[in-house]
Amino acid sequence: MARRLTSARTSTGLHSAPERSTADWWRTAVVYQVYLRSFADSNGDGIGDLAGLRSRLPYLSWLGVDALWINPHYPSGGADGGYDIVDYRAVDPDYGDVADLEALVTDARRLGLRVILDVVPNHTSDRHAWFQAALADPECAEASRYHFAPPSEEPPNNWRSLFGGPAWSRTPDGRWYLHLFAPEQPDLNWRDPAVAADFDATLRFWLDRGVSGFRVDVAYGLFKDAGLRDNPGSYSPTLFGHGPEQAMTWNQPEVHDVWRRWRAICDEYPDTMLVGEVCLADLAEVALYSRPDEMHQSFSFRLLKSRWDVEAFADGVQSALDAFGSVGAPVSWVLGNHDKDRQVSRFGGGAVGTARARAAALLMLSLPGSPYLYAGDELGLPQAVVPDEAKLDPIFWRSGGERTGRDGCRVPMPWNAEDGVGFSPDGAADPWLPIPADWERYAVSDQARDGGSMLTLYRRALALRAAHPALGSGDATVTTDGDVLTVHCTGDDETVRCVLNMGSGTVLVRSSGTVLLASTTRVRSSAGSIALPPNSAVWITED
Ligand code: NOJ
Ligand code: CA
Repeated sequence: MARRLTSARTSTGLHSAPERSTADWWRTAVVYQVYLRSFADSNGDGIGDLAGLRSRLPYLSWLGVDALWINPHYPSGGADGGYDIVDYRAVDPDYGDVADLEALVTDARRLGLRVILDVVPNHTSDRHAWFQAALADPECAEASRYHFAPPSEEPPNNWRSLFGGPAWSRTPDGRWYLHLFAPEQPDLNWRDPAVAADFDATLRFWLDRGVSGFRVDVAYGLFKDAGLRDNPGSYSPTLFGHGPEQAMTWNQPEVHDVWRRWRAICDEYPDTMLVGEVCLADLAEVALYSRPDEMHQSFSFRLLKSRWDVEAFADGVQSALDAFGSVGAPVSWVLGNHDKDRQVSRFGGGAVGTARARAAALLMLSLPGSPYLYAGDELGLPQAVVPDEAKLDPIFWRSGGERTGRDGCRVPMPWNAEDGVGFSPDGAADPWLPIPADWERYAVSDQARDGGSMLTLYRRALALRAAHPALGSGDATVTTDGDVLTVHCTGDDETVRCVLNMGSGTVLVRSSGTVLLASTTRVRSSAGSIALPPNSAVWITED
């Protein structure tokens, strides 16, 4: 029996097909996430940089994305992949300088691509000038911009770091300071107005340089319970997705005023946007961060966290459509990022994992809203095995090796099937994370010429998505029937059906329509039906 889930339009009345105007380009934009350190190395030091990225912009334009989000490019203490920032209004010398960033933005614009930066307002690096001043003088103005507590036997409360261990560490003079992530990432105290004022200046600094907005790290953090009271429950074992058990640490009501303030700043600059990382278990709470006067989007991580299961995927799609539809915001779909194992491996690895990742890509690119593609997913990269001694992720080191860490999804891109995969120029230093020996098989150079490659599938899908507004800008109706998930994407002129077979047997899809795109060549059409093998998806236009 087919089960029809509520469509976003029916349930909320707010989720109507948006116009593709420049002003709200972000509603349907395909955003490509560049892990800068691993994208392209221009000067042979084994580290990806802005000039390298700039040289690869034609690739992103050829691929067919609309914007790129760059992981943190700032001078950093290097304790957490750049998320421990020392200077918010500069570029880390590893990556270039501010002029390189400006040149990147200019070149990208010429190719019709927008550049979104990462900004990290919840915490700084412990090497940031403010924290250094606060260490030297507990009475200085900068000290009140962090959470310090006087020396005592026990830490001030029961809060835990997301990376393992207590969320409090001691300064050399015995005070406690709060860090919800690594000890090298002290949390800022947003109740001090100097903090907000400084971030205003940071936003303007980059907006004045032509960037199109920001991805906001830990946007559900910033404010903490005013009394820093104990959390009622223990810390959840997953990295993201907090609920009431962590009520004192996250999602304080005051944080929404920050997003209203940032929205007002962005509104002074044409066509800019904010997308927030909001890792709360309740998607309705996440959506509140994207009310019309707050951030334009907040990530929907449901598909990223769903196992290969039809109910999980259907719920991942429907719950996001409902939650974001209820505030009039587009859904930002995520299947991969720098914090999670690569899709191919998550979905089972090898041929099966690859087939599923191909099918999942067609699902995501059919849905209304803004999909985020993580660099390398378009190549079907698996999670790389990084030897323990080469690992850098604090999650691995702070858990004493118990948690694998995130290095395996951060390994440099393979560009050419020759010359050591072409991440760096000839004769370069070793890449900053080791690239597996057989990765030339995923190289862009070969995949671009191969009609059956993952890269070709993404490129075709993106071209079709641009040509058929029903895809990406339509109204979606989600149904399940056994192991088959169907999304009817209805635009002004046509309906495109995305059918995904998540089961283990071939299914017959009744249709007299035309197959626009299939994730596998093994799809067979005959009069009135389409045979869809397991772990595959099709886009069908209804005649
Ligand atoms: C979320 C980022 O995506 C992750 O990489 C980082 O470790 C934490 N925020 C802390 O900044
Ligand atoms: Ca470099």
